[in-house]
Amino acid sequence: MFLKFPENFTWGVATAAAQIEGGAYEDGRGLSIWDVFAGIPGAIKNGGRPDKACDSYHLVERDVEMLRELGVNSYRFSFSWSRILPDGTGKVNEAGIAYYRKLIELLKKNGIKPNATMYHWDLPYQLQLQGGFGNREIVKWFTEYAKVLLDNFGDDVDFWVTFNEPIATYVGYGAGFFAPGLHNEKYARQALHHLLLCHGEAVKLFRSYNFKIAKIGIVVDIWRHYPGRPGNAEDEKMARVSNEIRGYGMFLHPLFLGGYSKDLLAYFEENDLMPKTEEGDFETIKQPLDFYGLNFYNGLIDNAEKMREMQKARKEGGNYQDRPESHPEALLDVLHMLVDKYHLDIPIYITENGLPYDDNEGKEANLQDDRRIDYVKSVLHFAHRAVEEGINLRGYYLWSLMDNFEWSAGYCARYGLYYTEYETEERIPKKSAKWYSEVTRANGFEE
Ligand code: NOJ
Repeated sequence: MFLKFPENFTWGVATAAAQIEGGAYEDGRGLSIWDVFAGIPGAIKNGGRPDKACDSYHLVERDVEMLRELGVNSYRFSFSWSRILPDGTGKVNEAGIAYYRKLIELLKKNGIKPNATMYHWDLPYQLQLQGGFGNREIVKWFTEYAKVLLDNFGDDVDFWVTFNEPIATYVGYGAGFFAPGLHNEKYARQALHHLLLCHGEAVKLFRSYNFKIAKIGIVVDIWRHYPGRPGNAEDEKMARVSNEIRGYGMFLHPLFLGGYSKDLLAYFEENDLMPKTEEGDFETIKQPLDFYGLNFYNGLIDNAEKMREMQKARKEGGNYQDRPESHPEALLDVLHMLVDKYHLDIPIYITENGLPYDDNEGKEANLQDDRRIDYVKSVLHFAHRAVEEGINLRGYYLWSLMDNFEWSAGYCARYGLYYTEYETEERIPKKSAKWYSEVTRANGFEE
């Protein structure tokens, strides 16, 4: 059966600055926390570094050519804060502005709508030295940065995203396996509170411009956990903690319902983790948004017993799908939850979805990536069903345009539609690139 998507459906692919740009030491760019973190022995799998990545700083024409080949009508990328403001605040780096101007112009010339994230995990190192997100001053620093972006690119960007997956800051400050590599949950909780304030202030600032085209939202990933043995107290608790205390609940509640959830407050109390807040903070955080960006990768079934075994055998590197099961049907449930539990009445975009191949599988297997095609089809099946069930789902962005720097997993996890030859920076279309280009052109696919 052919699954046709609504007219004007957005079809895109996504990337992020630190993962593709490289050019880390060029034209006045400052260091980011990931440049420094990558220098810690053992922090990144196989010692991968983001210095050169996919060299998109020099290969932007080729990137846009690929977008054209794919037939996408939108491209999701992120700005590198330290390329724009090398010290995080103060002097603007004109070469950085010029780089993004060129990218945006090329996109527009080709009818591809820019979807740009202000912050995708790469804090300027200079700001980390002053406490980073742990310092409430970050709200001013971020607003200054947002102003530079909006002054320069405002209505040239169709979709503005304040933050991508804020949970990365929790991981980086609390669990240590992302930059900046700290292990202090109290600090992490405070950092997340400040991050949410940054978001709120940026949205307020955005509204003051009265843009005609540009819209603004946030991207929060949802890995919904389900108890493996319903009724089993340990499994139920595990799923609830993963969802409410360590997962999407810590963001969606303050963003859309206001304040922290009862579960989260109780957890803060019990563990002496209550973040410092000021009057008015929760009003600032809960700004009306124009859209919500959902990064959806999988649903997860928590079986406490099995998890204990898995933990022992856990791979190095983080944040990529390391559970064998695949639960695309969770997408439908997650979308309904956004509407029913968090009362979202704004357009929703799937801002990321994809499947990694391991570099060890070899180039040939990576190029013949049927597993990826099958997985994306299974997710799109439920996306289509969601639209039929009345969910205001407006688009889908596949992660990623090309294989790139997968954070702590370095270059070992390949998510691209294009295979990146890191030696030569050649990008080779995989089987999935051809398939996806047919989907975008037909606005649907044959199941
Ligand atoms: C989430 C992140 O936004 C992106 O940076 C990452 O590469 C993908 N998921 C895959 O893990």
